[in-house]
Amino acid sequence: MAEPIELRSERLLLRTWRNEDLTPLAAMVADPEVMRYFPATQSTAEAGQLMERVRAHFAEHGFGLWALERNDNGAFIGFTGLGVVGFNAPFCNPAGPTIEIGWRLARDAWGQGFASEAARAALACAFEGLQLPEVVAFTVPANQPSRAVMERMGMRRNPADDFQHPNLPDGHPLRAHVLYRLAREQWLAQ
Ligand SMILES: CC(C)(COP(=O)(O)OP(=O)(O)OC[C@H]1O[C@@H](n2cnc3c(N)ncnc32)[C@H](O)[C@@H]1OP(=O)(O)O)[C@@H](O)C(=O)NCCC(=O)NCCS
Repeated sequence: MAEPIELRSERLLLRTWRNEDLTPLAAMVADPEVMRYFPATQSTAEAGQLMERVRAHFAEHGFGLWALERNDNGAFIGFTGLGVVGFNAPFCNPAGPTIEIGWRLARDAWGQGFASEAARAALACAFEGLQLPEVVAFTVPANQPSRAVMERMGMRRNPADDFQHPNLPDGHPLRAHVLYRLAREQWLAQ
């Protein structure tokens, strides 16, 4: 068991999850625009399972996908955070866990810099607090808004790392993924 970490940025609290987050989380994952680059929208039951998996990840590692709460009005706007990659792919570190960063925000929170602000706080925690050697991120090639967040963070793509997501069947339109990496030294130098 690990003590869960919480973070603050200029406009956000990156916190562990509360039961009342389920209602806005369920609304977010039921929105087809938010889930455009995922295989399907999710039901409230699936949102609940997602929340439980995220809580279990925090309990095991101390970090995870933080719930994002706006400082100005207390609203839950989605999540951003760090996770242990749960599948094996060629880009994975054979010597230890591979840590990814990811984000998903409700549509009305897009276009205001919240995802990038939260990602910056999560990467500072990853590299300056947890002293991780590297963080990766991945998405489907067409997900430009997500790739833009990766690029804003200084993450870089080597096309040789691109991969087919092993959890999706052969021929699935969302199977191909681009992979971005950021090493601790790169983060500290920028
Ligand atoms: C991926 C996702 C989080 C990106 O959201 P986003 O709003 O584009 O990203 P940010 O919060 O960093 O905001 C950046 C935008 O806000 C603008 N912005 C406005 N005010 C800003 C401020 N104060 N600071 C920084 N940027 C600001 C930026 O100019 C940029 O606009 P642009 O896209 O026109 O260039 C969002 O599209 C999403 O949730 N998608 C669905 C889920 C998903 O696909 N997740 C990723 C799976 S891999």
